[in-house]
Order: sequence, then structure tokens, then C-alpha cells
Amino acid sequence: MKPHYTFMLAIACALAPAPGSTYARPLEIKLPQETASYKPSTLPGYHLALQNCMTCHSAQYVSTQPSTSTRAYWDATVKKMKKPFGAPLKDEDIPAIVDYLTKTYGAEQAQGTSNAAVTK
Ligand code: HEC
Repeated sequence: MKPHYTFMLAIACALAPAPGSTYARPLEIKLPQETASYKPSTLPGYHLALQNCMTCHSAQYVSTQPSTSTRAYWDATVKKMKKPFGAPLKDEDIPAIVDYLTKTYGAEQAQGTSNAAVTK
């Protein structure tokens, strides 16, 4: 009996990996959500952090800072990202970002109030 070539070709195509997709996928590194991105918040600095603080490194640097970090520490850190590190931050956005970082990751965290929406 003559083999059904069309059918076999269809199977071969279905099994063949698409170039650049199947082979590349295992190399992707997915960081856990809580360290890779910024903790959601209703504070205006949250969106500013997402826009301004993800271009060079993930939120992991932020989430590994001591939870006792003061507003002055975050202020100095954000300003350091701008200069000398070169983050394209607008000066008028810095206080909101500092406010968000201090209340979400630093010394002004209010457990159960401003972070109520954040699941740990
Ligand atoms: C232009 C690139 C760039 C941008 C944008 C940037 N950072 Fe950084 N960040 C760096 C570099 C470089 C380091 C130092 C990395 C190292 O020491 O290995 C760093 C380190 C840090 C650290 C670790 C503590 C420290 O003082 O080194 C924190 C926290 C941090 N960044 C927060 C932020 C926040 C918040 C933003 C947004 C306001 C931001 N970064 C945006 C480049 C950037």
C-alpha cells in the first residue's frame, strides 16, 4: 500500500519546532513576581517607578534594601540613579517615587493599611 505522503508531511511540520521559539524558550529566566517587578500601589510613584526604574535593573535591588530604609536613604538612592548612574528621571517625579519607595519598601510601611492591596 502506498504511504500517505501528505499526511506524513503534515505531522513532520507539526512536530518540527519553529525557529527561534521552541529553542529560545528554555533560556528565558522568569524572576518571581515579588522581586522582578514593583509592588502594586495606589500611590502615584508606583507607575513612575514602573516607567523609570525597570530600564537598567529589575525591582530586585529595591526589594532587597532593608525595610528600615528611611525617606532620606531612598531620596539619596533615587538621586544617585539619576546622577551618576544616568537614569532619565524628571526632577519633579523624584518626590513621588521616593514617597512610594519609603511607604512600600522602607521605614514608613504601614502594615495592613496603605499596603492592604498588596498580597505577600
Ligand atoms: C540608568 C540606569 C538605572 C536606572 C534607570 C535605575 N537604576 Fe538603580 N541602579 C543602577 C546601577 C548601575 C546600580 C548599581 C548596580 C550595582 O552596584 O551592581 C543600581 C542600583 C540600585 C539599587 C541598589 C542600591 C544601591 O544604592 O546601589 C537600588 C535600590 C536602585 N538601584 C533603585 C532604583 C530605583 C528606585 C530606580 C528608579 C527611580 C532606579 N534604580 C533606576 C542603574 C539604574
